[in-house]
Amino acid sequence: MRKYLLVIFVGVNLLLGGVNGRFYKDAEREIDTNGMSAVGDPGMRRNGLRVAFEAWNFCNEVAHEAPDMGSPRAADCFDVSIMNGSDSTLLHKVSEADNKLGIGRTFKGLSTEAMHRPDLYAVEKELYLGSLCEVSDSSKPWQFWMVMLKNGNFDTKAGLCPENGKPKPPFTTTKNFPCFGEGCMNQPTLNHWPTHLLGDGTMRGWFNGTYDLDADIGKGLTNLSFYEVIWEKKLGSGSW
Ligand SMILES: *[C@@H]1O[C@H](CO)[C@@H](O)[C@H](O)[C@H]1NC(C)=O
Ligand SMILES: *[C@@H]1O[C@H](CO)[C@@H](O)[C@H](O)[C@H]1NC(C)=O
Ligand SMILES: *[C@@H]1O[C@H](CO)[C@@H](O)[C@H](O)[C@H]1NC(C)=O
Repeated sequence: MRKYLLVIFVGVNLLLGGVNGRFYKDAEREIDTNGMSAVGDPGMRRNGLRVAFEAWNFCNEVAHEAPDMGSPRAADCFDVSIMNGSDSTLLHKVSEADNKLGIGRTFKGLSTEAMHRPDLYAVEKELYLGSLCEVSDSSKPWQFWMVMLKNGNFDTKAGLCPENGKPKPPFTTTKNFPCFGEGCMNQPTLNHWPTHLLGDGTMRGWFNGTYDLDADIGKGLTNLSFYEVIWEKKLGSGSW
C-alpha cells in the first residue's frame, strides 16, 4: 500500500523564491535564472530567517486537514537580537499555536466564509502568517521563503478535483497516479522544530513529517513516506 505513495517536493532545494503570500506569482517571476530571488533575501544570507511551509494534495487544494495538524501552512520567522558577547537571542514571530491553526479556530483577519472551509482557510492562514513575518526594510516588503510539498496520489473517486474551475464528479481510472483507497490524497503530518541558536553559534531548525498518518516516525522510516527540510546557518556569516 505505502509503496505507491509519491511525494513531490517543489522548491525544497531552496528554489523557493522570495515568496509573498499576496503577490505570489509576481514574486516568482522575479527569480532570475540562477534560482536567486530578486526580492527579499537574495542568497539567503539574512540572519533573521523567514521560512514557511505549505502542503497540497494532487489537485492543488487542501480539501481536508490531517487530524490534529491544523491547516497545512506554517512558518518559522525570527529576528536576531544581537547582544554583547554570546548572548544573542532569536525573537520568534510565529508561535506554535499560530502554526497549529486549523478550521474552526479564528485569527486576526479570518473571514467567516473561510472559517469552516479548508481550502479558503489555508489561503487566509498563509496571509496571516505572512503578516507576522513581513519584512519591510526595503522598498518591497516580503514575507518568507516557501517550502512546498505536494501529494502525488490522485484519488479519482473522491470528487475533490475541479476541472476548469468546475466541480467534477468521481470517476474511475486505473492509469497514471495510483491511489490505494480513501485517504490517499490526505495532507501530511507536520512536525516543527523552531529554529534554535546552539552554543557554537549555529542556528538550526526543521520541518518534517509523513503522509502515513498512522506511522510513528520515531520508530524508523522504512517503507514510509517521509519528508524533512532542515535549515542551518552560522550566526553572522554564510547563508542558509
Ligand atoms: C555592549 O558593550 C559596549 C562596550 O563594552 C557598551 O558600551 C554597550 O553599552 C553594550 N551594549 C549592550 C546592549 O549591553
Ligand atoms: C522529526 O521532527 C521531530 C520533531 O522535531 C523530531 O523529534 C524527529 O527526530 C524528526 N525525525 C527525524 C527522522 O528526523
Ligand atoms: C518494506 O516493504 C517491502 C516491500 O513490500 C517488504 O519486503 C519489507 O519487508 C518491508 N519492510 C518493513 C520493515 O516493513
